[in-house]
Amino acid sequence: MIRIDILTLFPSMFDGFLNESIINRAIKRNLVQINVINFRDYTLDPHGKVDDTPYGGGAGMLMQAQPVYDAYRAVLESIHSRGACPDRKVRVIYMTPQGEVFSQQKAVELAKEEDLIFLCGHYEGIDERVLEEIVTDYISIGDYVLTGGELPAMVMIDTISRLVPGVLNNGESAQTESHSDGLLEYPQYSRPEVWHEKTVPDVLLSGHHANIEKWRHEQALLRTQQRRPDMYSAYMEAHPPLPPKRRRRKSANAVNKEENTEKIREKIQEDTCIIQ
Ligand code: ADE
Repeated sequence: MIRIDILTLFPSMFDGFLNESIINRAIKRNLVQINVINFRDYTLDPHGKVDDTPYGGGAGMLMQAQPVYDAYRAVLESIHSRGACPDRKVRVIYMTPQGEVFSQQKAVELAKEEDLIFLCGHYEGIDERVLEEIVTDYISIGDYVLTGGELPAMVMIDTISRLVPGVLNNGESAQTESHSDGLLEYPQYSRPEVWHEKTVPDVLLSGHHANIEKWRHEQALLRTQQRRPDMYSAYMEAHPPLPPKRRRRKSANAVNKEENTEKIREKIQEDTCIIQ
């Protein structure tokens, strides 16, 4: 079970996200608990104001430190009141285009936490002083600027939640998909066998599991090379061709896979030369 607290000025943006599909099922099964908290409920301003103009001038409004800090303290207290060790640092994630770019590896790391707090900024952002005090992770979902942190928080929570054990059913395994092993996933097909005169690759109808595995690995390599050359290079660097001596010592299965990767590497190099 992972517990997630989202601090936002726009709680209703999360309604659809929390009430549909896999996330909703995970909440109902008590595998993920998600609370949405409105910063405005914590402002001391009599008119409910949470923002002000930035010192030094400039465009737009800035979220003030006080409501952000008090909302954070309230969430932290409720985490501790449930018996969490007060010494354990709870990760506080601030969604910002200035952060580290989110990745599957980061999702795997965060999915191991018991509690996560997401801080969604709006307008021109949040007063730097409160960020310095409470934020542990500055995360961006890509090099572009959105109007607020709510969509990025949903992207991250979706990615993290599906990694929590039990959230995906067996058939929805998180293991074989794109990014889980540094490669994009192979193409998939379902009924009918022929659609718009396109047939399903024969090997997938053969029932020969070893050949199917081999084909899928080849396709994953090819697809990664074509669509994400950066990922392909990183994968190839992490799986360099082994000297013949070391190969002999490995299990037959491991050797087959490595040899297969090597053949595909050669084939891709040939294809690349032809294309160029
Ligand atoms: N807030 C605005 N743009 C963002 C981005 N790209 N990632 C995370 N938070 C953001």
